[in-house]
Amino acid sequence: MKFLDALAGEAAWPPPLWLMRQAGRYLPEYREVRAKAGDFISLCLNPALAEEVTLQPIRKFGFDAAILFSDILILPMALGQELRFAEGEGPRLPSLQDAALLKPERAAAVYAPVIETVSRLRHSLPKDVALIGFAGGPATVACYMLDGQGGSFCRTKQLAYEQPAFVRQVLKVLSEATVEYLSAQVKAGADCLMLFESWSGIFPPEQFREFVIEPNRWISDALKKRHPGMKIIGFPRLAGLGLGDYARDAGVDAVGLDSVTDIDAARAVCPPGMVLQGNLDPLLLKLGGTALEEAVRGLMAKVKGHPHIFNLGHGITPDVPEAHVARLVELVRQGG
Ligand code: CP3
Repeated sequence: MKFLDALAGEAAWPPPLWLMRQAGRYLPEYREVRAKAGDFISLCLNPALAEEVTLQPIRKFGFDAAILFSDILILPMALGQELRFAEGEGPRLPSLQDAALLKPERAAAVYAPVIETVSRLRHSLPKDVALIGFAGGPATVACYMLDGQGGSFCRTKQLAYEQPAFVRQVLKVLSEATVEYLSAQVKAGADCLMLFESWSGIFPPEQFREFVIEPNRWISDALKKRHPGMKIIGFPRLAGLGLGDYARDAGVDAVGLDSVTDIDAARAVCPPGMVLQGNLDPLLLKLGGTALEEAVRGLMAKVKGHPHIFNLGHGITPDVPEAHVARLVELVRQGG
């Protein structure tokens, strides 16, 4: 499989391609299924509908990988935190006051429908399309659990300084639950895994090591022990100069790059032969035209000869015209 070969370190040309948030509101067929499901969480927990929206972008654009349709916040919900998505505002949870309130023993029963979605996809996906299982990185999930919503994560940052033992406890519960959750995804048929550390960039260097790199390492080691050879992509978004340390020490096989990191500079700080993924600015997909074409060609020229997975630096936004995605796919497939 072209995608897994690249993940194993092969410099395929043209590189394999998928896009973060490739299933989503920019697709009319997604909006239709989403309306049928009622709300976003019901969609994530409905295996037949979640399977359908995972497959939609594969049918339309022929990407090399499908990512399980779910959300990183299903895990805190499974651990007992109430979760809702305020329309047009993003996720809301009660801000966690005590790690002992979390109930890891009941989590598997709550996320069981997500695991069933993976099993279904295993059978319905074309054989040459890789299935990516995923979870949020524990630091990122903890940010939402402790602050109760996205934004500047002020409470999480304050707790990291004033009550680090509390933060450590939350990260420990989350890391253990994440291993179980991802391991269940592998058993159900995921071909590889991705850890979304989307908010790793809020931590200063010592905290980045303790709260991001170390838990990611612990999770990667535990998963590889249970599932030898399983490949893991880490996405330490906005890690800045911490990227090299993450790539070397987090135990992952590939790193996702955000759009503000120069790819040559990233390669220079990563271990030799590290597989990179990303880092096209998602805004270009909205703009299209020459800006998109030039950026794709520029990035393609920089990744040629290196193991690379073509992707954006963050997720597709709902305002992206489908025709621009089609043009991006065409450009990548023809080699830039
Ligand atoms: O196609 C895919 O990439 C797979 C599914 C997926 C979703 N979320 C679906 C989704 C994945 C891998 C995620 C990860 C996720 N979720 C992250 C990490 C990546 C990143 O974007 O930084 C984070 C931080 C979340 C939390 C989350 N979920 C937020 C902040 C929001 C609201 C913002 C928004 O775009 O509305 C979501 C909602 C969400 N997750 C949607 C989708 C398709 C939109 C929900 C809808 O249909 O209304």
